[in-house]
This record gives sequence, structure tokens and C-alpha cells, in this order.
Amino acid sequence: MGFGMTDSIKVPYLDLRAQYQSIKPEIDAAIARVLDSCQFVLGAEVAAFEREFAAYCGTAECIALNSGTSALHLALLAAGVGPGDEVITVPFTFVASVAAVVYTGARPVLVDIDPRSFTMDPASIEAAITSRTKAILPVHLYGHPADMDPIMDVARRHRLVVIEDAAQAHGAKYKGRPAGSIGEIGCFSFYPSKNLGAYGEGGAVTTSNPEYARTIRMLRDWGQDRKYHHVLRGFNCRMEEFQGAILRVKLRHLEQWTGARRAVVAKYNQLLADCDVERPIELPWARHVYHVYTLRTKDRDGLQAALQAEGIQTAVHYALPVHLQPAYADLGYSRGAFPQSEKAAKEVLSLPLYPEMTDDQIQKVSQALTSLAAVR
Ligand SMILES: Cc1ncc(COP(=O)(O)O)c(C=O)c1O
Repeated sequence: MGFGMTDSIKVPYLDLRAQYQSIKPEIDAAIARVLDSCQFVLGAEVAAFEREFAAYCGTAECIALNSGTSALHLALLAAGVGPGDEVITVPFTFVASVAAVVYTGARPVLVDIDPRSFTMDPASIEAAITSRTKAILPVHLYGHPADMDPIMDVARRHRLVVIEDAAQAHGAKYKGRPAGSIGEIGCFSFYPSKNLGAYGEGGAVTTSNPEYARTIRMLRDWGQDRKYHHVLRGFNCRMEEFQGAILRVKLRHLEQWTGARRAVVAKYNQLLADCDVERPIELPWARHVYHVYTLRTKDRDGLQAALQAEGIQTAVHYALPVHLQPAYADLGYSRGAFPQSEKAAKEVLSLPLYPEMTDDQIQKVSQALTSLAAVR
């Protein structure tokens, strides 16, 4: 998988090389430091990153892992989720949010999204709760936080654990509170294309609950409480030292990059003011970190193909909601079960967006989109 410049592409969807070039000396020094230390897994760099990322998220603890998927999986296990339990989440997400529930042996119970924010509709949670429900797993999709107050309220009333899927939402805020610090546990991905991306796989859990933190630390390293003494049936979900060192460098730039993303979005919003598409919104209580800039348009596939022909690379997140994916047919949901998710899946289109985008690139995308949308 990869995005980047080729001859026919005028504006790539992402340009990871531009970012590396802008911080090359710091990254190269961090990699050299790891090589010199010859500590390659869960060393001093990972430990320092855990402290720094916990501080960034406003939680007492961060546990660094090998992926966002592992973060969700271990968070659910730590919360006591297992066979016979149910976890409420959304179908309009990356498949991992649902897959992680299945890994534990529990059943994902899906609820629809609020069409404005593309995140869990809190009003639909209560009807989905049964005596088996253990947790609620909202997803801060695209970098926009889910409406957490009513979600926390229903969870409190029914004694459910809230696990935030913040894989796309590093630095996002809900009423001033950082994503990953609102529910009992937050789960992050550092996949290279994420707002805070490693140079390989990576993930983390954030929590201020010492019991959950202790359990997740053990689960990520074979369930050991001390060397070769296994109190839990654990896994190998450890973070590599190279990734810890790289993430420490990148975390120092994250706020500036988020500011740059938001500036690109402000320009898009201005240039697309008269364009016949529905622009994404930031609800009043949100700090949206724009992992992706997703608009809605009726003829999404046609528009995407026409933009591609003009050399503008776009993406679709996601064309098929999880309940309609062949792999999850046995969850038992049919077409029509989640109208807002299904409508969004047909309409969404993500424009190129990265902190290093130039005004010229933003203008090219906006001009092409405006003229192409007008003839549709
Ligand atoms: C919403 C969401 N959840 C979970 C994940 C899984 O993260 P990873 O790819 O690091 O396993 C991702 C990212 O890929 C994601 O976007």
C-alpha cells in the first residue's frame, strides 16, 4: 500500500516523503541512536514515548503496542470482554473496530451514525443494550470526536466500559478534553498514514486506570508479571524501539502539523464555498484534527474517476460499511439496517490532505472539483 507522486499525479492523496524531508536530520539521528543502543524492542525510547504520549493525551498511562488493532483487542480483554458478551460499536468505520470485538469471542452489536459527524449516534445506544452488553466502542472517525457526554452518560447508567477508538484522532478534543482521555480506555494507531504515523506498524492504549494499564502491559508481552512467569494468556504486541524513537520525534511536531492540516481545511472550505458538494463540518464542541477531509457528493464514483483523470488522487473511507462486508455477514445485519451508514458509504470522498500541501495544490484540487461537480 502506498500513496505518493507519480508522473501522472499532480496532487497525491498523501505525501509522506515531504514530511520526512522536513524532519530528516531529527529522524536519522533517532534511528542512529537506536542502532547504537542495540535495544530493539520495548527499550528506553518506547518508555519515553509512553510518558510523552500519555502527557499529550492527559492520561496517567500509555502502553505502546505493535498496532491500533492490538490496542483495541487488548483494551477489550482488559475490560473483561469475552465470549457471551456484547460490545456496541458502529458499522461505518475501518473494519478493525469490529474485528477486535470478534477476536475476544464477544459479539459486535452495531448502531448507526450521526450523519453530521459520521460518528456514533448516542440516541441509538440505549435500544441496543442487553443484559450481555459489556462495553461501548465509539470511533472518532476522520479525526472528529464522537459526542462523548451522552455516550458516557448511558454507559454510567448501565455500568458499561467506554473504549474510544481514537486511531484517527491524535490530538482531537471533545469539549476541550483530548481524545483517548474521556472513556476508560483510548486506542490509537500509528500506521504510517495516520496524523502521528510511525515508519512501520504501531499503536498504543491510553488510560488513567492503573488496573487496566497493568493488565495491558502484561497482555502485550505474553502475560508475564516477571520474566518467564505467565499469569495471563498473553500475546506478542510489543512496540519496536525504532518506532518509539521515531514517534518521539514526530510527537514534537504534531501540534504544528495539526495546525497546518486545519489551515489547509480552512482554504478548502473557502475555495469550495460555491462548489456543489457537502463539505465536512466541525461540531461546536469538537476540535477536528482532519485525519481526512471527507465531503459528500451524489455521484461519488464518477467524481472520483474524473478527478483521477485530472491527476488528483482521492480516497474513499469507506465504500462498504462493516455489516455489509462478506466477512461479517454472520453478524446477521442486512442491507437497510443502518441507513445513515449506508448513505454515507455511497457519498463520501476524501480529498488530498497533509500538512505540507502547498497553496498551489489546494487551488488545483479546488478548481478541478468545482468545475467537475458543476457538470454532474
Ligand atoms: C478507526 C480505526 N480503527 C482501528 C485501526 C487499526 O489500526 P492499525 O492499522 O494500526 O492496526 C485503524 C487504522 O488502520 C482505524 O482507522
